[in-house]
Amino acid sequence: MSYISCDNLSLGYEGKSILDNISFKANKGDYLCVLGENGAGKSTLLKTILGMNMPIDGLIEFGDGLCKHDIGYLSQQTEVQRDFPASVEEIVYSGLQSSHGFRLFYSKEEKELVRRSMERMDIVHLAKSCYRELSGGQQQRVLLARALCATKKVLVLDEPVSGLDPLVSSNLYSLISELNKEGIAIIMISHDLQAALKYASHILYLCNKPFFGTKEEFIESKQGKLFMAMKDMEDN
Ligand SMILES: Nc1ncnc2c1ncn2[C@@H]1O[C@H](COP(=O)(O)OP(=O)(O)O)[C@@H](O)[C@H]1O
Ligand SMILES: [Mg+2]
Repeated sequence: MSYISCDNLSLGYEGKSILDNISFKANKGDYLCVLGENGAGKSTLLKTILGMNMPIDGLIEFGDGLCKHDIGYLSQQTEVQRDFPASVEEIVYSGLQSSHGFRLFYSKEEKELVRRSMERMDIVHLAKSCYRELSGGQQQRVLLARALCATKKVLVLDEPVSGLDPLVSSNLYSLISELNKEGIAIIMISHDLQAALKYASHILYLCNKPFFGTKEEFIESKQGKLFMAMKDMEDN
């Protein structure tokens, strides 16, 4: 069974659909890139998978030992979030799963998990720094460490390299790829077609006639060819 299976989803707000016929699966070890134009409904899809938004129709199933709360999430960044007045450590701690809401005390295991996540993202030296004073790339590493505290199974990332320069983006992509190779399934929204084609195992393309399949199937598909031609024109 897959970690996540979506069957014939319709997504939207207040009963009004913005996107229909979405079906896909994400399995252990997969690297799924979600592509689509601005406003296509990519962020809405991720929020729906995470239970922050109700689907209008269709089915979302979790399997292979995964439940909704085992998913690490990095949301699309807003200016307000970039200015968040907390220390790096506080932000990473906030990724710990908690059924008790706000807590003053953490177990040894939880502290260890935070430490390992910070080491993994190479931000231990920034622990006491103020988040809003960090560079864009450092901030994204903090948010990845936070998401890592919530999961060993699935990371859901909404445009993690948006606004970063090419070198910093490339470093972040490498880090994400390493996590994937260590066994964490990645579901990532990206505007970067080149990176999607380099790293993804599967592509979900959101449009009038949504596509889901392996990267190789996407490259050969009608939707894929159209999308790649469109991106080519944007770049030239
Ligand atoms: N909270 C909301 N209430 C109503 N409509 C929304 C809300 N959030 C997003 N939308 C609309 O849903 C559509 C898809 O948005 P979004 O999922 O953010 O697209 P993407 O991430 O692909 O750019 C847009 O038309 C947007 O205006
Ligand atoms: Mg979005």
